[in-house]
Amino acid sequence: MSAGLFSRKSVAHLKEQAEEPEHGFRRVLGPVNLVSLGVGGIIGAGIFVLTGQAAAQYAGPAIVISFLISGIGCAFSGLCYAEMASMIPVAGSAYTYAYATLGEIIAWIIGWDLILEYLFGAATVAVGWSGYVVSFLKDLGITVPKALAAAPVDVVKGHWQMMGMVNLPAVFIVVLATILLVIGIRESANTNNIIVFTKIAVLILFVAVALPFINLANWHPFIPPQHGGFGHFGWSGVLRGAGVIFFAYIGFDAVSTTAQEARRPQKDMPIGILGSLAISTVLYIVVSLVLTGVISYTKLMVPDPLAVATDSIGPQLFWMRPIIKLGAIAGLSSVVLILLMGQPRVFFSMARDGLLPPAFARVHPRFRTPYVTTITTGILAAVVAGLFPIGILGELVSIGTLMAFMIVCLGVLVLRFNHPEIPRTFRTPWVPVVPILGAAICLLQMVMLPLDTWVRLIVWMIIGIIIYSTYGYRHSHARIRPETLD
Ligand code: ALA
Repeated sequence: MSAGLFSRKSVAHLKEQAEEPEHGFRRVLGPVNLVSLGVGGIIGAGIFVLTGQAAAQYAGPAIVISFLISGIGCAFSGLCYAEMASMIPVAGSAYTYAYATLGEIIAWIIGWDLILEYLFGAATVAVGWSGYVVSFLKDLGITVPKALAAAPVDVVKGHWQMMGMVNLPAVFIVVLATILLVIGIRESANTNNIIVFTKIAVLILFVAVALPFINLANWHPFIPPQHGGFGHFGWSGVLRGAGVIFFAYIGFDAVSTTAQEARRPQKDMPIGILGSLAISTVLYIVVSLVLTGVISYTKLMVPDPLAVATDSIGPQLFWMRPIIKLGAIAGLSSVVLILLMGQPRVFFSMARDGLLPPAFARVHPRFRTPYVTTITTGILAAVVAGLFPIGILGELVSIGTLMAFMIVCLGVLVLRFNHPEIPRTFRTPWVPVVPILGAAICLLQMVMLPLDTWVRLIVWMIIGIIIYSTYGYRHSHARIRPETLD
């Protein structure tokens, strides 16, 4: 088979590659660590920051339904990821699945697109982390000067404004996570376990202490009637809320990038992906139900909705404020860590296929981590987090992720059709319904995003295609080793 833009990697070759005993990485992750990595990547800014704003602006108490809808959409994609990750357990995740199903150019596009999810996602959450840390320090009487905790410019209410010099706390968390990721996957996973334990404990504590103070009147009407145009309350608001809250679910797919570090990827990848998604969905629904029950949604247009909710109960719960802030700081740190873990592994796989320079495929001889790509990712994410106005990047993260999810759903269909004979340790149920619905829901959510976001996505893709045509296309191993193709 000769190699072209749409040449596909053979699944058999990919499996061989993944099962090579000595591919450089350390196979240390078991099912518990994988679930914890997923939860580490998922629970963060979405629940600790966005929930309140989405309830106040779009859905009211029905933000609970928004969480459910978005969770079901993600479950369809998650089921497709689970099949793919157990079948092709390599570090490239959606990039590699696309290479095996839709061809090299689509794989490149998805690989390039994943930068939006992982690298920009990490930078976005690092900026949220910075906000929480600055506010926590302020409560302790330590003021961080604004010049050192904000990007040089930002868009405020549609206008560019001078803000600060550099967002140092955001740079700090990115650098810290990068160092940990270089040192080792086991060390990163262990640290992540502690953080995940902390944030889940804080969310459960919130539910436990706030539950007795639920005032049923706050849930009436549960779906406030639409007012202020399409997308503001009513069912249209619930749907828009689901689109906004999708951000809260981003991260479970990062589990699949550790396939080459899992002890039994065929068995444990589906557990990690689906287990973390299930735990997070249940927590999101319970927390948002309690949140909108103790305080009127109209008061939730704040950056720290859970703390505002416990404060509203009365002075007897003021002690919760620092605990919730600590939970949020923990939550956001693990999201930064996990997203920064996903990106280098995708770059690594792209370099192994020749689409990026070979130095990117280096694995550290002692730490057994993809250190070149980890450090490169860290530097780029630190620059973005420190200097760029993140507000305009947030929706890019969602559109980029949705595109990757859509391709993975389509990939499951293509492989079932092209290669039904390949054994699958995990099979997505109700094919073709689940993958088709999964892809359709992703596409619908993409269409609902603002035009600006689409323009940015298209510009980003054009840059990617220029890089592919000047470098990747010429250096692709598929041209040198056509025997690896389908
Ligand atoms: N799901 C992650 C968060 O909510 C990105 O922070």
